[in-house]
Amino acid sequence: MTTPDKKLSLETLASLCKRRGFIYPSSEIYGGLNGFWDYGPLGSELKRNLKDIWWASMTRFRDDVVGLDATIIMHPAIWKASGHADGFADPMVDCKACKKRFRADQLCEEQGKVLGKEGSGFSLPAGVTCSACGSKDLTEPRAFNLMFKSFVGPVEDASSTVFLRPETAQAIFTQFKNILDTCRQSVPFGVAQMGKSFRNEINPRNYTFRSREFEQMELEFFIRPDEAVELIHGRVITLADNPDLAGEPQPAWGWEVWHKYWVAQRIAWYQAVGLPAASLVEYWQGHEELAHYARACVDIQYAFPFGIQELEGIAARSDFDLSQHQTHSGKSQEVFDEPLKLAAAKLDAPARDAFTATVAARWEAAGKSAEAARVFCLKLFEGRYIPHVIEPSAGSDRLVLAILCNAYVEEWVPDGKTEGAVTMPGEPGKQPPKGYEARTVLRFSPRIAPLKIAVFPLLKNKPELVAKARSIYNTLRKRWMCFWDETGAIGRRYRRQDEAGTPFCITVDFDTLTADTVTLRNRDSMKQVRIPVSQLVQELEQRLDQPTLPLDA
Ligand code: GAP
Repeated sequence: MTTPDKKLSLETLASLCKRRGFIYPSSEIYGGLNGFWDYGPLGSELKRNLKDIWWASMTRFRDDVVGLDATIIMHPAIWKASGHADGFADPMVDCKACKKRFRADQLCEEQGKVLGKEGSGFSLPAGVTCSACGSKDLTEPRAFNLMFKSFVGPVEDASSTVFLRPETAQAIFTQFKNILDTCRQSVPFGVAQMGKSFRNEINPRNYTFRSREFEQMELEFFIRPDEAVELIHGRVITLADNPDLAGEPQPAWGWEVWHKYWVAQRIAWYQAVGLPAASLVEYWQGHEELAHYARACVDIQYAFPFGIQELEGIAARSDFDLSQHQTHSGKSQEVFDEPLKLAAAKLDAPARDAFTATVAARWEAAGKSAEAARVFCLKLFEGRYIPHVIEPSAGSDRLVLAILCNAYVEEWVPDGKTEGAVTMPGEPGKQPPKGYEARTVLRFSPRIAPLKIAVFPLLKNKPELVAKARSIYNTLRKRWMCFWDETGAIGRRYRRQDEAGTPFCITVDFDTLTADTVTLRNRDSMKQVRIPVSQLVQELEQRLDQPTLPLDA
């Protein structure tokens, strides 16, 4: 069973992240703003690397996914259609004694209780107290909509009210037809988008984990309804058929297989960016946890130091979203599927009737209307349907946090004065034993490390060393993110790069001037090798550009 690493406290991690320029509290000189964080020089580079890899794996390395970059503020009718205007709310309670505000479900959970549900409302179970002051005097839970409001134009009234998007996904649905008409894709295909989302979280917490402004990386992968697959291919491949999910997607796959395929793809992706399999959990939501329109939803979770928590949700959302937008906008969201029309044309009237009767019976058994099934089948016979969708929806900030937690290592390394001492695991916050010193390392995979190489002249007051080191630095920075450091003892410089997670350090010393060789130091093993300057680029290429991602295969 995966267990969170309790030894690493978020305070320790946050302190390193601030010290090294990964993450700062937003607006800090004015006291900060709860739930908002800024990424510093190293953090922004780390996040960009992860987003670039996500974007490449989704769009560049696939023939069946295209990209979108839509606005943050969109027509408010979108949020009515999506359900966010009426339903995107968390239950909130206030403590009448100390005036603190809580998310009711989290408060209950912390106290080993479950928030009651009554119709569309909530009720607090007995015995729940304020976690700040202990008072039992709490308000009844009430729904609090999480969307940030603003106004377009100079007049602040209901007609000019807009919302900052709480997810990037809806723009993909509302641009679905434009994309279909312009990008030469046909179902099954996907649209990827990454960008800012905003949620006025009642209780932002766990560092960047639950923020009020954050980034999402979302894919909407549109598929045929199973009934269309059945008409075209004569059968629907389900999970019971044991399909090969690692291979190429198959035309006869039903929604269940597509969903599982994306779960497998995304888990492999997390491993490829450096999260060990043992730290990841594939959590299948129970029937009672599913949104009413969802057929299945899997949370990919990571064992954070504060608990096992969601990194990404992968939902099979049926045709809910496009249908909602069709109803609310009055614009058809149906696609025309030529192979479906051709397959249907081969059926005679009795075969069509039999097909329709089977579909109607299935729908009825699932609590849906038989009449709706008949209308749906008539459309299918014309080659028309509203696509269904599988949605892998990830958060970039949660991923950065997981990557930082995973990379953080404290070691006790020999101080060089004690014979026979060997490096051993340290304990965050604890002093090392005599003869050892503590070293903090961020063991990022080289592909995502913010800095790839640091270049040091041994001494800053020797112009020939500095000039040689500069020329090496200038060559390497054309290819990789490099860092120049000429101040302090070499040992101190190495430690600084260990904390930044830089995989390699190059030192230019006096031997460089005579033999044209440098030392190349490995962050993890701390071993140094001497290599000719002429082989440096090739050597680094091998170490930094390894195809560590399955998407490179
Ligand atoms: N379109 C589906 C959707 O937005 P979600 O589960 O609400 O689904 C998807 O969000 C992902 O976005 C989450 O798994 C998480 O990684 C990220 N996310 C959601 N709320 C967040 C918050 N307040 N702070 C940071 N990341 C968040």
